[in-house]
Amino acid sequence: MDYKKYILPHIWDLKPYSSARDEFNGNEGIFLDANENPIGSGLTENYNRYPDPLQLHIKDQIALIKKCSTDQIFLGNGSDEAIDLLIRMTCTSKSSSIIVCPPTYGMYEVSAAINNVPIIKINLTAEYQLNSDLIIQAIDSTTRLIFICSPNNPTGNLMNREDIYKILDSFKTGFIVIDEAYIDFSDEPSFIHELAKFPQLIVMQTLSKAYGLASLRLGMAFADPIIIKLFNKIKPPYNIGGATQNLVQKALENSYFVTESIQHIKINKNKLIADLKHIIGVRSIFHSDANFILVKFIRAQELFDFLISQKIIARNRSNVALCDDSIRITIGLESENEELILKIKIFYTKNDV
Ligand SMILES: Cc1ncc(COP(=O)(O)O)c(C=O)c1O
Repeated sequence: MDYKKYILPHIWDLKPYSSARDEFNGNEGIFLDANENPIGSGLTENYNRYPDPLQLHIKDQIALIKKCSTDQIFLGNGSDEAIDLLIRMTCTSKSSSIIVCPPTYGMYEVSAAINNVPIIKINLTAEYQLNSDLIIQAIDSTTRLIFICSPNNPTGNLMNREDIYKILDSFKTGFIVIDEAYIDFSDEPSFIHELAKFPQLIVMQTLSKAYGLASLRLGMAFADPIIIKLFNKIKPPYNIGGATQNLVQKALENSYFVTESIQHIKINKNKLIADLKHIIGVRSIFHSDANFILVKFIRAQELFDFLISQKIIARNRSNVALCDDSIRITIGLESENEELILKIKIFYTKNDV
């Protein structure tokens, strides 16, 4: 793939900011180069020095976990940062467009709107699968990006792999993003292993879900090293703070926690689904490969409001395409899920179905 054709020329030619830590990255010496405070931070641990702009320690760990090479990894302040940078790298307001497949993660559309880039929406099928033929028909000379979320938010299911391959085989004049924020909860292999085969593929993942690190803000994009270099060129110089880097490094050493919590969440999910099946007001529970479920309820809006009044906060997705009367429920602790079931039962004993 001739990447230069699909990257905006001013980005391809950009001379990036060269930070103090880009120019010298040793640990020892008298550092008088970055206008830092030499005394410390007023904390027990000092954060007075700028962090590694390329986060190489974490990338080494992630490369081992994800079985890829470090130069295939970009780290962002959440995967939301990677989504925004990718749009800025590839799309202009005048002659580009982005295909998304609603109902899906809302930030693709919001990031496109912030960058003033038109969005083409090809809804999922009634079974919440990709309409691959319609997507392929919608591709034109302006298409620069196609976002595919698998497992999808808010529906929770994996997209059929054959449909993804069909789109990958048909679209080579821009990039296909597979957002795998929830892949750790599924039994399917990641598309990271397909990067060598599909040079237009970009896979995104995050530590916000299975790794339990949402507050630290660490998202990942996996792609050809040429694309990763472009991400690094346009990102803010120190986009991942030192505290995040230190804590992520420690968390990644504790692989036991991730495996255990995934197992735990899967067990809780199955139990919650089994309990919901006995409730009269539940119309359907959609298959989930993620750490949440989408459930269609009778009187969904009233139920949602009742749950809020009981201090149980779920996500009402009723106004989203193809999700009428549906509430997205994150799998909580066993006791939290039991409390939820109790409150739903109370709601339906008070209100006719
Ligand atoms: C599908 C999907 N992609 C990306 C994100 C953003 O993740 P991060 O916390 O890394 O910004 C989310 C967050 O909910 C998500 O659902």
